[in-house]
Amino acid sequence: MTDQTTISFASLTAKSDGVVVVFAEEGPKLTESAKAFDKESKGLLAKAMKVTDFKGKKDSSVDLLAPANLNCSRIVLAGLGNPEEVANEDWLNLGGKVRAAVTGKEAPEAHVFLEAVKAELSPEDVASFALGTVLRSYGFKKYKSKKNAGDDGKATPEKTLKKIVIHCADPRAAQRAFTKEKAVGRGVNFARDLVNEPANVLTPQEFAKRARTLAKLGVEVEVLTEQRLKRMGMNALLAVGQGSTQPSHVVVMQWKGAGEKSGAPIAFVGKGVVFDAGGISLKPASGMEDMKGDMAGAACVVGLMHELAERKAKVNAVGVIGVVENMPDGNAMRPGDVVQAMSGTTIEVLNTDAEGRMVLADCLWYTQDRFKPKAMINLATLTGAVMVALGKEHAGLFSNNDELSDELIKAGEESGEKLWRLPLGPKYDKLIDSKVADIKNTGGRWGGSISAAQFLQRFVKSETPWAHLDIAGMGMGSPETDVNRSWGSGFGVRLLDRLVRDQYEK
Ligand code: BES
Ligand code: MN
Ligand code: ZN
Repeated sequence: MTDQTTISFASLTAKSDGVVVVFAEEGPKLTESAKAFDKESKGLLAKAMKVTDFKGKKDSSVDLLAPANLNCSRIVLAGLGNPEEVANEDWLNLGGKVRAAVTGKEAPEAHVFLEAVKAELSPEDVASFALGTVLRSYGFKKYKSKKNAGDDGKATPEKTLKKIVIHCADPRAAQRAFTKEKAVGRGVNFARDLVNEPANVLTPQEFAKRARTLAKLGVEVEVLTEQRLKRMGMNALLAVGQGSTQPSHVVVMQWKGAGEKSGAPIAFVGKGVVFDAGGISLKPASGMEDMKGDMAGAACVVGLMHELAERKAKVNAVGVIGVVENMPDGNAMRPGDVVQAMSGTTIEVLNTDAEGRMVLADCLWYTQDRFKPKAMINLATLTGAVMVALGKEHAGLFSNNDELSDELIKAGEESGEKLWRLPLGPKYDKLIDSKVADIKNTGGRWGGSISAAQFLQRFVKSETPWAHLDIAGMGMGSPETDVNRSWGSGFGVRLLDRLVRDQYEK
């Protein structure tokens, strides 16, 4: 749920009101607009910098309340840091920081005079900044009776900020660049809403219903119900859902932005376990509530398709999500069961809590069989082990293709949604050989994320460039950042948007 703050762009000389934000580079060196406010206020900014020892460093700011002689309720002077070290991601994060500083406590509008001292910001930099404000605005308030309540449940005096005006060198170009970023913001927030939604509301059926709403943007959406999935032989996916009272679904989304003739699509596949109790291999009680977010991979795929369609990306993209609930029940799959996946491969189930790979096995096989994609990328909150390896700073990346892998890592650096590549190989692959069936669904304790990835690879043809992103540490409960304060982070939408823009849009 994004708040109702509207964002517009104006020139650096246009009028302002409410909260004013100006900047200084390290030194401190005030920008031209900051200098103008300093002059008008008879040296208030200069004095404040001195008193607070403000040096224009990144992440530092000074708040000046009710300045005399000025037509504004507050001036925020924020540091830009060293101009040589500024990257694209920094403008996004700065937008997040500024959004947090202009809460709307004392005024319904904020005016940001976004400029550097020497260098000129590109319209894309300004649009990135604006996206940062949008992403920081997000809060999941749906179930709060008092909509103004903070996360501690107490009502806060915060009013809603109605309007942010970003003053910049070329407001028209910034506005144009922002139409794309706005779509990205809505895609991320759509994904966040899905991840945050509890599993009693977000059943597989409800998930499919929400994915269906993408049709209004021109996405072709097909919902495959249990009967269809049975006929198609998706027994691995169905086995996971068979202990739940909620029927399993697969949703297929197609965006044909490059036209029918321009060849094979890029495919995105997501794990959508709306709740992972572990099944008969039941998880411990502590922290089990977090498993309502075990569909963050699927949420990312839906958010991404939303975003691509809304900004009319010139790309052919397919999104496939397997949406199921993993519950213990008299009808649930058991440890020791053998099921045959759609590809024909038989799987011995050793641990019913290793369910994500079974869902993806059928989704990956189906996707490459039907669409023959030029690349296939899956996202899944697949293993706790990836958090042991990488913490909550990088998602794990596994791939059969160095080029795709490098493209993804680069997109990660540019977007700030970072990836770290982990190995695959024949020795690891041996870990999932089964005595009873073709493969088993766990490969033991050591290298748990790798054997999970090896399992997925058994369902990918070697000629399909494929990457698996293990986002268990990133999809939910990741550390707070400048642009995310939500439990469900929407991780992956910005990353894959970047990848598509850089590599796949014609
Ligand atoms: N959904 C979990 C992985 C997970 C754990 C995601 C914590 C986010 C936070 C997955 O289905 C799972 O249970 N994996 C097991 C695999 C094991 C049984 C081989 C795990 O990681 O322990
Ligand atoms: Mn599990
Ligand atoms: Zn799971």
